[in-house]
Amino acid sequence: MLKSGDVVVADFADVKPQAEGMETFFLVLDTEGTKVLATPITSKASAKLSLRIAATITKDDVQPIDIGCEGFVQLDRIISLNQNTCRRAGSLKNDKLDKILRLFTRYAASIYFNNFHKPRERKNIPAAGKLIDEDDLFNAIDASLDMWLTAGRFAQAFESKFSEKIGAKHCALVNSGSSANLLALSALTSRKLGEKRLKPGDEVITVAAAFPTTITPIVQNNLVPVFVDIELGTYNFNPELLEKAVSKKTRAIFIAHTLGNPFDVEKAKGVAAAHNLWFVEDNCDALGSEYNGKYTGTFGDLATFSFYPAHHITMGEGGAVITADPRLYDIVSSMRDWGRDCWCPPGRDNTCGKRFEWKLGSLPEGYDHKYIYSHLGYNLKVTDFQAAIGLSQLAKLDKFVKKRQDNFRLLYSGFKRMGLDEYFILPRWLPKSDPAWFGFSLTVNERAQFHRKELIEFLEKKGIGTRLLFAGNILRQPAFTDTALRFRVIGELENTDRVCRDNFWIGVWPGISNKDIEYILEVFESFLNGQKTVRGRTA
Ligand SMILES: Cc1ncc(COP(=O)(O)O)c(C=O)c1O
Repeated sequence: MLKSGDVVVADFADVKPQAEGMETFFLVLDTEGTKVLATPITSKASAKLSLRIAATITKDDVQPIDIGCEGFVQLDRIISLNQNTCRRAGSLKNDKLDKILRLFTRYAASIYFNNFHKPRERKNIPAAGKLIDEDDLFNAIDASLDMWLTAGRFAQAFESKFSEKIGAKHCALVNSGSSANLLALSALTSRKLGEKRLKPGDEVITVAAAFPTTITPIVQNNLVPVFVDIELGTYNFNPELLEKAVSKKTRAIFIAHTLGNPFDVEKAKGVAAAHNLWFVEDNCDALGSEYNGKYTGTFGDLATFSFYPAHHITMGEGGAVITADPRLYDIVSSMRDWGRDCWCPPGRDNTCGKRFEWKLGSLPEGYDHKYIYSHLGYNLKVTDFQAAIGLSQLAKLDKFVKKRQDNFRLLYSGFKRMGLDEYFILPRWLPKSDPAWFGFSLTVNERAQFHRKELIEFLEKKGIGTRLLFAGNILRQPAFTDTALRFRVIGELENTDRVCRDNFWIGVWPGISNKDIEYILEVFESFLNGQKTVRGRTA
């Protein structure tokens, strides 16, 4: 009986030897009863250019026979043979068969992708979206063929490639940006940090014009958020207010680079250093942004990332925490992985070499280290499917960032050129910043005689997606007005409220083409022309 991986000689002469002195070999891919699914091993010379998916087989891959010369397996030439017409000549090494069968699924996936996932003409222009290609699908399939299911080789590869790209010493991959934020803040409460740990009632400086899960981990850890106002245009904290927010109870600064636009990193670092505060960057919207020539996310004690589809790269759901501090990395990893003390990767035991020799807590001597918990933890790991998609997306990060920046520039110059900026506060960025923009943010200004609602309804009707600046002013959200939360506000959150009322953003993500941008500008112009006419008539 033949089996997968067997190399056979077929007795029927449909397929002629491909090279002088080479017999016609077939590689068996599968068997079912007397039927054999096989593909010819051809000589390289005969390989046609039309081949979409092919693998080379060298002499060393096949045992015990010599296939004559280097062979070539074409996965688009699979045929069905009868067992009785085949003579077994040898078999392919298992790891080579594994590679070839993975290529086979890749071939099928490629056909599927071209039919169902190829970018098509869009009717609308969403504010955010994912850009996926065949490689992302292949990687997801590759990970599923492993059937490892939890975090495995792809997660490890992502952590190390991501660290290398960003310039981080340590990276803990997690299942979302929100989980990354929760872990970053929770890690700072670890008793392993001694006196520097955050304790209930300690204050954390942040802004209220934020994504909710930048704020909620502060509250969930029984800490007190202290809100400073933002600046219009950058939508980041007002640097002058940061120092004013520090009290005797302040222990940390935890703020996002809003819409990919780096905040004043020097100010934040300076205040943190002067008052011995932890500094955490929520970099979820700013992957690829630079401040002073360095990636944002590399300035804080900890930084967080999101790989949700709207973000610079995606793995569906995913996030990461990075740090240069090995102690913080250990705490983050422990809290991500149930709070355990053990650091073995999934599926491995005894990497510490003394699994049954620990004495911690009041547990019996030698209690299995795998089941010792030094933190109140969570399970926030990713699966390898997610990490695999992240890996192929990461390879495209620079391209994605460039397109975001190009789109931003086209919109910005278009608004200026067409005089559309008369009615808006345009985005502003710091001289030392090179933002990998998340969106193009606009605040309707005092000169405009229309309300934001009218404009965004008009844009949405014309197929242009709009988004608000997340929670606007988080203190006005029902989750915050309905509960007796403890927080402190520095002065009036005047600009935060202004954003809540008058701000929105449109997309710059890499799926938006130059033609889309022209259309966006035209639609803005037609809305504003309408406004001018109305005003002309009523004036
Ligand atoms: C600034 C910021 N932080 C955190 C998050 C949460 O990320 P995720 O959606 O992956 O949980 C987001 C989400 O978009 C965000 O914009």
